[in-house]
Amino acid sequence: MRSCGPEHEQIAVVRHPSPQRPHLGIEVFECGFDFFACRQIDPLRLHPAKYARECIDDGADVIIAGGQLFGPIFQKHKFFTIPNTGVPVVEDAAQAHGGRWRGQRVGSIGDAATFSFYPGKNLGAFGDAGAVVSQDEDLMEHVRMLANHGRLEKYTHKMEGVNSRLDGLQAAILSVKLRYLDEWNNKRRSHADFYLDSLSQNEFRPQSVNSNAESVWHLFVLRVAEREALQKKLKDEGVATGIHYPVPLHLQPAYQNRQIPLGSLPVTEAAANQVVSLPMYAELTESQLELIVNAMTMANVSA
Ligand SMILES: Cc1ncc(COP(=O)(O)O)c(C=O)c1O
Repeated sequence: MRSCGPEHEQIAVVRHPSPQRPHLGIEVFECGFDFFACRQIDPLRLHPAKYARECIDDGADVIIAGGQLFGPIFQKHKFFTIPNTGVPVVEDAAQAHGGRWRGQRVGSIGDAATFSFYPGKNLGAFGDAGAVVSQDEDLMEHVRMLANHGRLEKYTHKMEGVNSRLDGLQAAILSVKLRYLDEWNNKRRSHADFYLDSLSQNEFRPQSVNSNAESVWHLFVLRVAEREALQKKLKDEGVATGIHYPVPLHLQPAYQNRQIPLGSLPVTEAAANQVVSLPMYAELTESQLELIVNAMTMANVSA
């Protein structure tokens, strides 16, 4: 079994678009499943802190660290060791609730962090919900205003905002589910260990996890050359799979105006063609896990 390697690591650097570089709203280092990739970097020579520093020198406004995609936490320390820059780092922790980097909880490492509580997430509401967390009180006041039509007090709107308040019912559901998050994440970890051990003789390439990280395995993603054949064989055995994500952002119709054609981001595009997600949720049983790995082993497709 080979590892997916570091190519899933991402940093997005948000800048004000300038007349010289109008396409740069967000610049990303490395593959862009959920971020827009404007620059292709050799994954084997990826050095996030170095590139982040270059972007900061070049006028970046904020850095979004997306190295927690799918739950495994990659070399996050690199994102947060950019000394004395004054440029805030925001963790995108939408898929990493409860994870830790060197013992420290995800969401408490950067200057701020964003969480999604979409129902399918490790901590999911009964509908859409999300949160921004930070120790910076001024920032939090600003975020609260943004989410509440630009006001902190009734009838006084200090700025333009949106309606993005967390529904009280969702908050109540989340606060009960939060008590079980660590227990559910432990189960996911044990399922991931089972997959990793059982599939270790095969050529499938799962995500690599840094040894300093305690991943929460939001998804269990691996790469396989003959993805459709594998999915079909698993389906025949009653095993559902998913693809996260088949179409990278630069090929989405919404971003056609950026004119980043097919072939421009080969690392991203290869990943989008090869990734497949196996069933992953706390309630998976031993017999279900065995059925899945047996079906994988019997599938006999090129990895
Ligand atoms: C990594 C990542 N970032 C951001 C988001 C957006 O979260 P939401 O849909 O709750 O706005 C998601 C949702 O799937 C996500 O997975």
